[in-house]
Amino acid sequence: MNLTLKIWRQQSANAPGKFATYGVKDVTPEMSFLEMLDALNEDLHSRGEPPVAFDHDCREGICGTCGFLINGVAHGGQRGTTVCQLSMRFFKDGDSITLEPWRARAFPVIRDLIVNRSAFDRIIQAGGFISAPTGSAPDANDILVPKEAADTSFDAAACIGCGACVAACPNAAAMLFTSAKVTHLNALPQGQPQRDQRTLAMVVAMSNEHFGSCTNHGECEAVCPKEIPLEFIGKMNRDLIRAVWRRHREPLMIPGIVQHPFHEHDGAEAAGH
Ligand code: SF4
Ligand code: FES
Repeated sequence: MNLTLKIWRQQSANAPGKFATYGVKDVTPEMSFLEMLDALNEDLHSRGEPPVAFDHDCREGICGTCGFLINGVAHGGQRGTTVCQLSMRFFKDGDSITLEPWRARAFPVIRDLIVNRSAFDRIIQAGGFISAPTGSAPDANDILVPKEAADTSFDAAACIGCGACVAACPNAAAMLFTSAKVTHLNALPQGQPQRDQRTLAMVVAMSNEHFGSCTNHGECEAVCPKEIPLEFIGKMNRDLIRAVWRRHREPLMIPGIVQHPFHEHDGAEAAGH
């Protein structure tokens, strides 16, 4: 196959970017999308031109490092597939393919197709850790975990933090990602002691970044390579309501946030009594 690639080239976050057009020859259906880009970069290198910068690590769909828009669709539009798993058999001879970095204010471009996703790291950091006793490892069945809870937590833990959900959302919201990270720990018995604190802290951290608000478009679920369901957003919203109302009973400590305990008196004042 011979292909035409239109690729976003941008030297740095503050430099202006533009599309550049390249031809790639002798692409085989067995190649992965990133191998096709490797071939382009070898060609650019041999001609003394700067290679196209793109993120990658595991190249088997588990690390979440890769990801960009292919013809306007995050990860290229094959269901449950990251860019690194995308095969060239889905393209045909003569195709013109446009490649762009994730477009979201919270993910500034570092170079070409690479964006800075450290906003995701800050959301995860805000979640803290689960309560765990120190000492030797607990016996296997010390804490019984219901099958449904284990399945939910495992499904949520499948999120690889690639950022496709943000890139696909018309509002650039990070709700699917945050809800997966919240649900991963909130679903388990071990995650209960910090459940309210974790939910509030992660939602506050998300709100402090440059993400938009969720308006239930569902584009995030459609492009998610790990098929994280929208249902987790509903779970996070329920946990958020629960956490806010439980402040009636006990004060919550949220790292980095000055938090005052809720008093019945405050609620009465707010209600105009
Ligand atoms: S929810 Fe899906 S699309 Fe979003 S970061 Fe996680 S794996 Fe990627
Ligand atoms: S390179 Fe690891 S998921 Fe694509």
